[in-house]
Amino acid sequence: MDFYLDTANLDEIKKYAAWGVVDGVTTNPSLIAKEKVSLEKRIKDIAKIVNGPISSEVIATDLPGMLKEARRYAHWHKNVYVKVPMNENGLKAVGILKKEGIHTNMTLVFSGGQALLAAKAGATLVSPFIGRLDDISEDGMALIAEMVEIYANYGYETKILVASIRHPRHVIEAARIGADIATMPPAVLEKLIGHPLTDKGISLFRDDWEKVKNLQ
Ligand code: E4P
Repeated sequence: MDFYLDTANLDEIKKYAAWGVVDGVTTNPSLIAKEKVSLEKRIKDIAKIVNGPISSEVIATDLPGMLKEARRYAHWHKNVYVKVPMNENGLKAVGILKKEGIHTNMTLVFSGGQALLAAKAGATLVSPFIGRLDDISEDGMALIAEMVEIYANYGYETKILVASIRHPRHVIEAARIGADIATMPPAVLEKLIGHPLTDKGISLFRDDWEKVKNLQ
């Protein structure tokens, strides 16, 4: 399973990229707004740290506008994947961009039907937002299971990028189901590494080693 960081913060990206487990980065307009920087500058700076797909989202909702932004983003760096929202113009844009060799990430996907359309349109990645489904008392992980089944049935090449992850259990369950990628906030990656028994075990081994380390 590939791990992406869902943040536009450079300090966080540097810190977790050093762990050697970060395969890409996803951003969205809200994450960029939190950083108060230009999108172009931030995407280029992220590309200097992580050598993998970096999602940059279009703001336009009309087709010509979406395509204009997408082509501009794609020029910034070879690893830019253009995030396009799931709607009529988004679908059209994904098909056109595919023919131009521009990678896309179809975002804001909340149903199996939308996922099927994204794959048929030729999206490189598709982002089901599981946390936001859980937030409204729906079952986000059930959507991932449905998508894995549907894509396997037809051999679609579109990769499932599980998004809107809220906690480590989301990552583990998505991995069990066989989703391709999980994009997570740094806090979730941080929680994946920790376990109190690991800390206790290290401490115990170090204490015991102190008792014998000087023996010949
Ligand atoms: C994915 O690419 C999105 O940026 C993100 O996962 C949305 O998560 P949220 O629902 O926590 O805003």
